[in-house]
Amino acid sequence: MTTQSLRLVPLSPHLGAEVEGIDLSGVPSNREAASLHAALADRQVLFFRDQRLSYDSAKALGRVFGELHIHPNTPGPEGYPEILPIHADAHSKRIAGERWHSDVSCDPVPPLASILYLHTVPPVGGDTLFASQTAAYDALSPRLKAFLDGLTALHDGGPSYRASNARQGIPETGRVYPSAVHPVVRTDPATGRKSLFVNRGFTIRINDLPEDENRAVLDFLFEHTTKPDFQVRFRWQAHSVALWDNRVVQHLAIWDYFPQVRSGFRVTIRGDRPV
Ligand code: SIN
Repeated sequence: MTTQSLRLVPLSPHLGAEVEGIDLSGVPSNREAASLHAALADRQVLFFRDQRLSYDSAKALGRVFGELHIHPNTPGPEGYPEILPIHADAHSKRIAGERWHSDVSCDPVPPLASILYLHTVPPVGGDTLFASQTAAYDALSPRLKAFLDGLTALHDGGPSYRASNARQGIPETGRVYPSAVHPVVRTDPATGRKSLFVNRGFTIRINDLPEDENRAVLDFLFEHTTKPDFQVRFRWQAHSVALWDNRVVQHLAIWDYFPQVRSGFRVTIRGDRPV
């Protein structure tokens, strides 16, 4: 398969492709940018090997998709607030993304996409799993789709970020973390495709349901949305890049490599209010 100048090797039926034929270290040409947009819309998550990204080139790549997002809990390196360090080693008490989530879905305007570059990886392990939320929605029965359509859910960053800070010994400063109400089923305005938009990392409750029904429905959705049928698993190499669409995928980082080092950084792109 080719998308204009890019060659795509699909990795699973619903999502994921390795992309060949592009060097991400320069500012992408208009043609490359259009190809990347088309490939991401088609495959939901893209993987690139043997890349060399600096903070600046990662930011330039991110800007192909929109304005850059600043993480509400983790500060970037000096002069680079849009860079999110992703690092684990023998001293780590937690890693980013240990529960299934869509990045910062607790933001009122949650991110459109994320770009993760790892320059250092463990000899084995440290894979990332991605699950297609359009495939998860499509697999539901018509009756359950009708029930979920129109419901909203509360996403709250507080529990997740406070727990993460506590494990790392970062003092609670009383800061306010983002929270937002989003549709349980969101629709891509461009394609009309529907996807499920709830995740274990941030979704606290479905509105308009009593507590026992809320718990049962959320537990079902957390299981359903992360079924192996909807997944692709990425095995990192040093200098790989993953680019994913947070509107239609959830992901999970696996910490099976302690005390080895896994290191790089992420750039996140601002999105639109889900509808
Ligand atoms: C994240 O963005 O959640 C981290 C993903 C990873 O480290 O694989």
